[in-house]
Amino acid sequence: MATVLTARRRIGFGWLALTAVAIAVYAPLPYLGSPLSEMGDSGLASHYAAKPPWVHAVLYTHMVGSGLALLLSPAQLSAGVRRRWPVVHRVLGRVTAVAMLVGGAAGAVLAPMSIAGLNGAAGFGLLAVLSVAFPVLGFLAVRRGDVTAHRRWMVRAFALIYAGVMLRVGVLVLLPVVGEFETAYAFMPFGSWVPNLLVAEWVLRRERRAGPPVPAGAGVAAGGVRSG
Ligand code: HEM
Repeated sequence: MATVLTARRRIGFGWLALTAVAIAVYAPLPYLGSPLSEMGDSGLASHYAAKPPWVHAVLYTHMVGSGLALLLSPAQLSAGVRRRWPVVHRVLGRVTAVAMLVGGAAGAVLAPMSIAGLNGAAGFGLLAVLSVAFPVLGFLAVRRGDVTAHRRWMVRAFALIYAGVMLRVGVLVLLPVVGEFETAYAFMPFGSWVPNLLVAEWVLRRERRAGPPVPAGAGVAAGGVRSG
């Protein structure tokens, strides 16, 4: 039974890691090829092309920051990486945290201009604030030596940054059902991260009920999520 659970967790973590890396690379790609003004309607480009240059700079800063955080997060959550290369975990941890802060702060500036209007301002705005707050709380926890709290805050932070994946998958899944991009997109300012955070909280609660946290480096069996 334990082997089945372990295999399931490994597959789950592998899937999260794969989709995170894929979207981190794929989402900014169209914006790197040509200037915003020449992108036509692809992505949300035409909406942002009409904005002043400082907004373009914020958008690119956001893509680089949040994209990098999404790219590096799976390695940070992997217990295998942490056990074998603790120095890599520490160095990449700082890079990931700074990337989340930069991407989140830029996201907070973009939220009030969202194509989803007030709904976008509220949903993406709250996401941005939390995605800055959680890594800070995780960093403060590890500074005071509380590795368990550190890991919990970083799992929650990953649930937030995974919004980058859920936003795109969500629109893709909803579009054939609701018929219009605007209607599908309207679900996403909250729908891209609230479910992720609920699932993360559920996983953390289950762990808490299952017993004391696994010591650092011993959590490989959990496929990386249950790891100090
Ligand atoms: C911390 C979580 C995040 C927040 C708060 C956030 C916020 C935002 C906001 C407000 C916009 C403008 C969208 C609109 O006008 O409706 C945006 C666009 C964008 N974001 Fe994020 N975002 C986050 C995570 C990510 C991640 C992980 C990526 C991955 C690369 C990403 C890549 C992009 C891209 C490429 C755009 C341009 C629009 C598009 O083509 O989809 N964001 N983001």
